[in-house]
Amino acid sequence: MSTPIRAAAQALADTLSAWRRHLHAHPELSGQEAETARYVAAELRRLGYQPREQIADTHGLIADLLPDSPSGAAAVALRADMDALPITEETGATYASRRPGVMHACGHDAHMAMLLGAAALLAERRAELRAPVRLIFQPSEEKSPGGAAPLVAAGVLNGVGEVYGLHIWSEMPVGTLGTRVGPFMSATSELRITITGRGGHAAMPQQCVDPIVVAAELVLALQTIVSRSIAMTDSAVVSITQVQGGSASNIIPEMVELRGTVRTLSEPVRAIVCARVHELATGVARNHGAAAEVAIREGYPAVVNDANAVSRALAAARAIGIGETDIVTMSPQGGGEDFAYYAQKVPAAFLFLGGRNETKGCCHPHHHPRFDIDEAALPIGAALLTQVALDWSVTGKTPR
Ligand code: NI
Repeated sequence: MSTPIRAAAQALADTLSAWRRHLHAHPELSGQEAETARYVAAELRRLGYQPREQIADTHGLIADLLPDSPSGAAAVALRADMDALPITEETGATYASRRPGVMHACGHDAHMAMLLGAAALLAERRAELRAPVRLIFQPSEEKSPGGAAPLVAAGVLNGVGEVYGLHIWSEMPVGTLGTRVGPFMSATSELRITITGRGGHAAMPQQCVDPIVVAAELVLALQTIVSRSIAMTDSAVVSITQVQGGSASNIIPEMVELRGTVRTLSEPVRAIVCARVHELATGVARNHGAAAEVAIREGYPAVVNDANAVSRALAAARAIGIGETDIVTMSPQGGGEDFAYYAQKVPAAFLFLGGRNETKGCCHPHHHPRFDIDEAALPIGAALLTQVALDWSVTGKTPR
């Protein structure tokens, strides 16, 4: 099924591919997206926009499309991320990375191309707009603390009523769209627990406080957090991934260090898990006369999708001809995304757009050296973002 927006996006397919391929060939790491930002800004200006660059002293940029007759309605924001990964590309594609060791292996090149596509399609339909549209190109999604938080702090959501983010997804076939209401991507926290005992000769443990025994008991005790402190309707992961201590078979070491990660789908559950990690670590250590120091570094919060925003996105998907069987209700994902910071501020929907096509060799996971996407996804994504913005504009929400 084709609709005017979908057909217009399809007519833009070669341009979308050209944008994506240029960005793909010239990837930049998190926080270093200077050339990427210049390229995107130049293309936006060519489309008639006046982008504001270097937001919050980052490579982030925003561009607004204002209606002819301002109605005071809140804007809808569309967000794309810009950074690549420290991976050496092995696709052999003609548009493969020209920068050894750097690769757009998560599809952020496609995100920028689709948002530029929406910029083009929306500019042509400016007369239909009743509410402003804000385009957000955000740096440094891949590297905590991320580029979203500084942009939000700088006010990029001021006057914005809803925000949408689209992520290409290699696990789903091209032509499909996946999302869910509520928690979608996980909150991440990194753990470092240092257990300090009293070292000495392994033959005389009575003179020592053995941090290895404390660490062993603690690793098992930490596994009771999910089973005993979290409700059956909630979920969490506590993984201890590194245990380091000791230097010889006849020495009881002074210290053992544990590292690991915590994944949760809500802030209250993250708070419970982190509090229990503290209590168990200090409690188990104290019981043995040792001391535990716990450092928890919080990563991104959970991405929580708003029900109304998801409805609007799915209505837009149907409106551009995505069939009911191609709309997937997804399970919460274990990965993190700094889109979470936008979703904390205003109602938001984060969406996965299928990019997989085995016949074209686009079947490798994200962050893989042979990751690639079926570019047939690009017009679909551009059309979807355009339709969402137009639908919002018709509803005409007032500013928050
Ligand atoms: Ni990504």
